[in-house]
Amino acid sequence: MAKIGLIGAGHIGSQIARLAVASGYDVLISNSRGPQTLSALVKELGAKAQAGTALEAAKAGDIVVVTIPLKNYRQVPVEPLAGKVVIDTNNYYPERDGHIPELDSESTTTSELLQAHLPKSKVVKAFNHIYAAELTTHGQPAGSKNRRALVIAGDDPAAKKTVTHLLDQFGFDTVDAGPLKEGWRIQRDTPGYGPRRTAEELRRDLAAARRYADR
Ligand SMILES: NC(=O)c1ccc[n+]([C@@H]2O[C@H](COP(=O)([O-])OP(=O)(O)OC[C@H]3O[C@@H](n4cnc5c(N)ncnc54)[C@H](OP(=O)(O)O)[C@@H]3O)[C@@H](O)[C@H]2O)c1
Repeated sequence: MAKIGLIGAGHIGSQIARLAVASGYDVLISNSRGPQTLSALVKELGAKAQAGTALEAAKAGDIVVVTIPLKNYRQVPVEPLAGKVVIDTNNYYPERDGHIPELDSESTTTSELLQAHLPKSKVVKAFNHIYAAELTTHGQPAGSKNRRALVIAGDDPAAKKTVTHLLDQFGFDTVDAGPLKEGWRIQRDTPGYGPRRTAEELRRDLAAARRYADR
């Protein structure tokens, strides 16, 4: 079974760790303050979980999730993530992250920034539009009627297949928005950002999304 490394163990990171352990994965979780601050979460997660540094999570994970405030994305270790599937959950909130001109002008997207920082990794955008608490309460088995769907975007088809499988194990259908540059269709303030949606509804939301400049 693959190991999942988590860079960030806050609202989203801790929930993804819970889902991963429940699906049989080993996890290595990390945050900015150090592994000693994660003992309660490791205890809760049980024998399949360890805490380490972000560098250790990057090295240990076959799949690595980056789930930190966007402003810190340049602190993500680069070399140990080369060749790996990296899941990006991050969103841009200028009041938290400071202004990032290329995002304000919409000349790029959050996940493309992470991909540029990690040129040899296969970045897949996922989990950015679901509230953390719902990750462990909205999942349903495959084939359930009106199953909730989550959007992915990415430039590497095999990496997207890996993440689609992971989402299915976690209880969600997947809607592929296309390459990373299409990730803006599920960014903050778009129709699909937040509400519970089936795959069909999410596809409509993606099509209805408008750039900030066009509103
Ligand atoms: N909350 C949601 O419902 C939600 C939903 C979808 C997407 N998101 C997005 O997902 C990302 C994470 O959100 P969150 O709500 O989980 O944030 P959060 O609760 O504030 O947790 C952030 C985590 O990142 C860690 N961190 C910060 N800088 C780091 C670094 N350089 N290296 C390693 N770890 C670092 C923090 O560690 P310390 O605590 O030690 O500083 C903390 O564990 C954000 O971009 C957010 O916009 C959030």
